[in-house]
Amino acid sequence: MEKESIYGEHRQELEEVMQGLLCHIQQIRAEMGERLGMDPVEHCLSRIKSEESMREKCRRKGLPETTESALTKIYDAIGLRIVCAFVDDVYTIRDYLCNSPLYEVIQEKDYIRHAKPNGYRSYHMILRVHNRTYAEIQLRTISMDTWAALEHHLKYKKNIGSRTRLIEDELKRCADELASTDLSMQTIRDMILDE
Ligand code: GTP
Ligand code: MG
Repeated sequence: MEKESIYGEHRQELEEVMQGLLCHIQQIRAEMGERLGMDPVEHCLSRIKSEESMREKCRRKGLPETTESALTKIYDAIGLRIVCAFVDDVYTIRDYLCNSPLYEVIQEKDYIRHAKPNGYRSYHMILRVHNRTYAEIQLRTISMDTWAALEHHLKYKKNIGSRTRLIEDELKRCADELASTDLSMQTIRDMILDE
């Protein structure tokens, strides 16, 4: 017999909440787009966490592999990643979401102003929708997204051995250079908008 989904009867609800969020992002995008004269979002990804990774996360956190854990103890059953052209757009979208009556903001982590020691940058939010469904929103720039993708690849390469430290330092340096480029790009955009 097929093992029952960890999401129980709630799979549909997760899909609906995710679609609702995506629609809202579209709306925000359109509104900002009109103001800026360009679409502020480069791309937007969404996913429901797979059965396997949800179960793995429950185990990792010492939680029972139940629907309750998946929906109320772990907050990223629904995940959205919004990749923006410019840093300011990340914060503008964050403000739209924070000020919306549709969501309660459960948690925010600003890894842009406070980068992780390895150089990771992104703005993370946990939202609660309809008083019960959680979603994790990751907002970042194209540069931050590029770095995170490369770092993710490298994390799974085990055979870097004695040069681990050097590689980590180099990755961190790249992250910082990209962040500095993001600031320069933002400045250029501000100059163009001021024209
Ligand atoms: P979880 O228990 O996994 O939710 O950990 P957390 O709540 O401490 O995670 P955090 O909010 O810091 O990050 C969650 C997600 O952000 C991860 O699943 C990744 O998608 C992304 N992330 C965080 N840190 C890194 C990093 O160093 N590198 C990359 N590539 N992604 C990261
Ligand atoms: Mg998390």
